[in-house]
Amino acid sequence: MYKTIKDILSESLIEIKESSDNSLSLSRLDIEYCLMEALNKSKEYLYSYPEKIIDDSQMVKFESLFSSRLSGKPMAHILGYHDFYKYRFEINQNVLIPRNETEIIIPKILEVGDKIFHKIGRLRVIDAGSGSGCIGISIAKERKNWDVLLIEKSKKAIKLLKKNKSHHLVNNVKIINSDWLTSIQANSIDMVISNPPYIAKNSKFINKYVDKYEPGLSLYSKENGLFDLKKLIVASRKVLKNNGALILENGYDQSEKVTKCLKENYYKDIDIILDYNDIKRFTLSRNSNYEQKDNSQNCRSS
Ligand SMILES: C[S@@+](CC[C@H](N)C(=O)[O-])C[C@H]1O[C@@H](n2cnc3c(N)ncnc32)[C@H](O)[C@@H]1O
Repeated sequence: MYKTIKDILSESLIEIKESSDNSLSLSRLDIEYCLMEALNKSKEYLYSYPEKIIDDSQMVKFESLFSSRLSGKPMAHILGYHDFYKYRFEINQNVLIPRNETEIIIPKILEVGDKIFHKIGRLRVIDAGSGSGCIGISIAKERKNWDVLLIEKSKKAIKLLKKNKSHHLVNNVKIINSDWLTSIQANSIDMVISNPPYIAKNSKFINKYVDKYEPGLSLYSKENGLFDLKKLIVASRKVLKNNGALILENGYDQSEKVTKCLKENYYKDIDIILDYNDIKRFTLSRNSNYEQKDNSQNCRSS
C-alpha cells in the first residue's frame, strides 16, 4: 500500500513513542530530516504537500535512514552534516557534533571582538579545540577582517577541518595542529575562545550514544572534567595581550570553579552567560597586566 508524507510522519511518531530507549532522545525532527533526505526536498515541501505519495525507492531510502537513527546513530552521522549558527558543517566520527547551546556564544564573541577591533584596527583570534570548525569558521565568515587561528590536536579532526575550511572559502583562517596553545607566541593574541572537553571521565550522566559515536578526546577531561579548562586559563594568560578576551564554554556544574581559577590567574571583568536551560555555560573574562604573568596559578585549589 502506498503511503503519503503525512502517513509516514504519523506512523514514525508512534514508533518513536513506543521506543523504550529514552537515551536516544528522538523527536519529530528526526523523522523530518530522514524524509527530507529520502525525498531530497525541504521541510516546507513536507508540510505543503502532506498528501504526496512516496514512491518505492524513496520509501526504501527513508526506512534505511530511519532505522539507522533508531539504532542510535546520530542524525549528523547519517546525513554527514550538521547546521550550526548560519552555516552547514560536514561532520564525521572524528569530531564532536556541534551542540545548539554553543551557538548562543557566537553573537557575544562577535560583540566582544568588534569592540577590540574598533580600538586597535585588527584582531587575532584563536578557536582552541576547533573540531569541525563550527565556532572558528562561523566567526571567520561573519568577520572577514579578523585573523582566526583554528587549533586542534586530533590529526583526523584536522582533515575534516581542512574540508570545512575550503568548503566555506574562508581566507582569514589558519589551521594549526597543536596541543592547546603551546605553538603560539606570547602576548600576540586578542581573543581566545574554546569549547574544550569538560566531561569527567567516570561521569554517570554521559549519554551512551554520545560516548559510543563521538571521540573521547572531544568529550573527556581529567580532574573531574576541569583539567583542560584550567590548562587553557593558564596558557591563555601567556598568549593573550593585556585586556585580551578569554571566552570559555564549561560543564553544567563547573562555572564556580572556572571563575575561581580565572581570579587566581588575575583575569578581570568576569561575566557568566547562561544556556537555554539557564545553566551557567559560558565564562567571559579579560586578561590583566602582562607584567604579572609569571604569577600564573595552576588552580590546584579549585
Ligand atoms: C568539545 S570539542 C569542541 C569542538 C568544536 N569547537 C565545537 O564546539 O563543536 C573539543 C575539541 O578539542 C580538541 N582537543 C582536545 N584536547 C586538545 C588539546 N590538548 N589541544 C588541542 N585540541 C584539543 C578535541 O579534539 C575536540 O575537537
